[in-house]
Amino acid sequence: MAVALHPPLHHHCLLLILILLLSSATIISSSLSHPPAPTTNATKNATAISPTISPTHSPSARTPISTSTLDPKQLSALQSLNIPTSKDPCFAPPHTSTATACDSSKPFRHLLSLRLSNCSDDVALSLTALKSLSTLNTLQFINCPISPIRFPSELTSNLHSFTCIKSLKKLTGVWLSRLQNVSDLTVSHVSITASGPSIILNGMKFLHSVTLSHTNLTGYLPKHWHPNLTIVDFSGNNLKGKIPLSLTRLENLVHLNLSSNSLNGTIPTTFGDLNDLQNLSLASNSLSGSIPESLAAVPGLMRLDLGSNQLNGTIPKFIQDMKKLKYLNLEKNSFHGVLPFNATFVKRLEVFKVGDNSNLCYNHSTLGSKLKLGIAPCDKHGLPMSPPPAKDSSADDSGDSSDDEDYSNVEEKHHSHGPSKIVLGVAIGLSSIVFLIVFLVLLSKCCK
Ligand SMILES: *[C@@H]1O[C@H](CO)[C@@H](O)[C@H](O)[C@H]1NC(C)=O
Ligand SMILES: *[C@@H]1O[C@H](CO)[C@@H](O)[C@H](O)[C@H]1NC(C)=O
Ligand SMILES: *[C@@H]1O[C@H](CO)[C@@H](O)[C@H](O)[C@H]1NC(C)=O
Ligand SMILES: *[C@@H]1O[C@H](CO)[C@@H](O)[C@H](O)[C@H]1NC(C)=O
Ligand SMILES: *[C@@H]1O[C@H](CO)[C@@H](O)[C@H](O)[C@H]1NC(C)=O
Ligand SMILES: *[C@@H]1O[C@H](CO)[C@@H](O)[C@H](O)[C@H]1NC(C)=O
Ligand SMILES: *[C@@H]1O[C@H](CO)[C@@H](O)[C@H](O)[C@H]1NC(C)=O
Ligand SMILES: *[C@@H]1O[C@H](CO)[C@@H](O)[C@H](O)[C@H]1NC(C)=O
Ligand SMILES: *[C@@H]1O[C@H](CO)[C@@H](O)[C@H](O)[C@H]1NC(C)=O
Ligand SMILES: *[C@@H]1O[C@H](CO)[C@@H](O)[C@H](O)[C@H]1NC(C)=O
Ligand SMILES: *[C@@H]1O[C@H](CO)[C@@H](O)[C@H](O)[C@H]1NC(C)=O
Ligand SMILES: *[C@@H]1O[C@H](CO)[C@@H](O)[C@H](O)[C@H]1NC(C)=O
Repeated sequence: MAVALHPPLHHHCLLLILILLLSSATIISSSLSHPPAPTTNATKNATAISPTISPTHSPSARTPISTSTLDPKQLSALQSLNIPTSKDPCFAPPHTSTATACDSSKPFRHLLSLRLSNCSDDVALSLTALKSLSTLNTLQFINCPISPIRFPSELTSNLHSFTCIKSLKKLTGVWLSRLQNVSDLTVSHVSITASGPSIILNGMKFLHSVTLSHTNLTGYLPKHWHPNLTIVDFSGNNLKGKIPLSLTRLENLVHLNLSSNSLNGTIPTTFGDLNDLQNLSLASNSLSGSIPESLAAVPGLMRLDLGSNQLNGTIPKFIQDMKKLKYLNLEKNSFHGVLPFNATFVKRLEVFKVGDNSNLCYNHSTLGSKLKLGIAPCDKHGLPMSPPPAKDSSADDSGDSSDDEDYSNVEEKHHSHGPSKIVLGVAIGLSSIVFLIVFLVLLSKCCK
């Protein structure tokens, strides 16, 4: 019996070794490989806003094309745009950001909202398709660099919201100006050929929100604005000239972003009239003069970005009393004097930048030395004590100087970047060693 037992034991031992070797190999290779590859369904096709229907929806969600509730003309228009219609587009979840919406007319429903995103290159807009889709009041193109065509008037008349991000290569002001009934207009990262924003916006009688950003738009800011505007974002263009006073009469304005243009002149003192303003960015222009005292009257200001201009004067103390403020960027200007903030205020902010103001200094006894502000401490006369410390070599120099999570001037940074790879290496090394030891121990036990 004892003799008969021996060979199976030996097999057992080999099996164990094999398993160990295999498992260590898999662990090492899996930790070496990049983040778990997503189950790839990366179709680069145009999709109607969520044709994927969650199981919670009614059984009719799974009805085949023939019994779709959508107008057959619109169905074939969607198909002509390469949008899968195997599931009824009208039953897409209405509350998700990717929803199509339909009306409830009988016998067939009509689309009210549609998003084309990540189109394949062979998608082309046709007048016929757009005519069939003219019931839409919301139309979005995202990552669809297809050629624009003239929209049929039925469609432009119905559109309330139009979005075009990295899509419809080369728009013209005239083309956009036809969308006269929109209340929300967003065009971003597409170049627009126009003499200025006015030609686009002047006829839009219902405009509430306008974003024309990174469009290489030239010309001057409009002198006339729609009084009900709440959002104006013209960031990343080539707009020049002064900020018109008329802009500061928009009582409902909550978000104004004119960053990265070539605006000059001073910040109008009437900015304080913008009672509802929450976001103000005038960064990366050529504005001069000082920060208007009237800004103290804007109670809800959360983001103030005046970085990279030629502003001068002292930094007003009232900024410290703005209770909602989270983001403050005054870097790369010509401010002078003593920074009028205490440490409580500075620590409360998510982003605080004052560096690169060569005549600005901070009071060592109120701010201490823990915060790296990029400016020198003051001497007893309120002048910078030594030349300001060399600027931290920031990885990405220009461009996105106003990143959301940017704490760049506060101390506890620069630690979170590289270590993951080191940790990975150590982990792999340790696990290999452990496996080797276990392997050797078992080997010596089994096979002696
Ligand atoms: C990928 O597509 C297939 C067929 O369209 C589908 O059955 C599957 O659930 C999809 N997977 C994911 C992760 O979306
Ligand atoms: C993507 O579109 C092409 C034709 O443009 C089609 O052949 C293919 O089946 C589509 N893929 C998916 C997943 O819908
Ligand atoms: C489009 O593609 C981008 C990246 O290529 C992806 O992040 C995004 O989720 C896609 N959008 C849709 C709606 O499929
Ligand atoms: C705007 O909509 C109204 C109806 O709401 C319509 O009469 C008018 O023609 C539309 N304007 C344009 C320029 O399409
Ligand atoms: C704007 O113009 C610059 C230089 O002419 C070009 O590199 C950039 O791609 C243009 N941007 C857009 C959105 O067309
Ligand atoms: C602005 O909005 C108010 C209230 O929503 C509305 O009564 C008024 O007609 C609008 N003004 C214009 C010029 O559209
Ligand atoms: C502002 O720019 C305009 C044109 O870009 C120029 O004519 C004007 O002199 C500039 N004004 C100031 C104060 O620099
Ligand atoms: C203010 O700006 C931030 C960041 O750009 C944005 O997320 C937020 O929606 C803006 N607030 C308003 C009221 O537009
Ligand atoms: C203004 O626009 C720029 C570029 O589009 C963006 O990076 C920045 O976050 C915006 N600022 C605010 C306050 O929203
Ligand atoms: C600020 O700059 C303006 C013009 O750029 C100049 O007239 C003014 O004297 C400067 N003020 C201070 C305090 O340096
Ligand atoms: C900092 O300034 C704020 C606002 O002016 C004030 O309420 C707070 O008491 C000050 N904190 C310290 C420690 O001085
Ligand atoms: C710095 O702060 C201390 C205490 O608040 C004060 O006595 C001193 O005058 C300040 N120094 C300057 C240069 O403002």
